[in-house]
Amino acid sequence: MAIRSIVTIPDAILREKSKPVETVDDELRALAHDMLETMYAAPGIGLAAVQVGVLRRLIVMDAQKGDEKGKNPLILINPEILAHGDALRVHEEGCLSIPQMYAEVERPALVRVSYIDADGKQQERDFADLEATLVQHEIDHLEGRLFIDHLSRLKRTLIIRKFQKMQRERAKAEVL
Ligand code: NI
Repeated sequence: MAIRSIVTIPDAILREKSKPVETVDDELRALAHDMLETMYAAPGIGLAAVQVGVLRRLIVMDAQKGDEKGKNPLILINPEILAHGDALRVHEEGCLSIPQMYAEVERPALVRVSYIDADGKQQERDFADLEATLVQHEIDHLEGRLFIDHLSRLKRTLIIRKFQKMQRERAKAEVL
């Protein structure tokens, strides 16, 4: 396993649509495990393949806390939202591709998702609350969508400006 570098905005790859996975093989499983290692190291609770520069429909997640973390990570291949409940939930989201920026996003609180697991088996599962937010955030990445796209234009612009300012300051500090 290896930690891969995470792509951040404004890299154009984050706006591309990922392609379906056709074969679940050792190479894909190795990528998924690299993604999990990268996610835990970041630290984060979800990661899409595009965030490590690979345009394939693969996401990994682990929303467990404390001792439960790392015990049952999820690898979702070609995930698709089949249905969602009417109730919405608001969550302060962040993203490893827009580090240190956070904003409240409203999404369905319950979603049913179909996917292929790491053994190549077709699965269906309901995700609620934080996991519902998470799986929708990660599936958005596969469509080239970021959480800031769910905000008003003003809020999105403010976050992007703040992020760019932070990057410039970091670059300056590295020179000194
Ligand atoms: Ni993200």
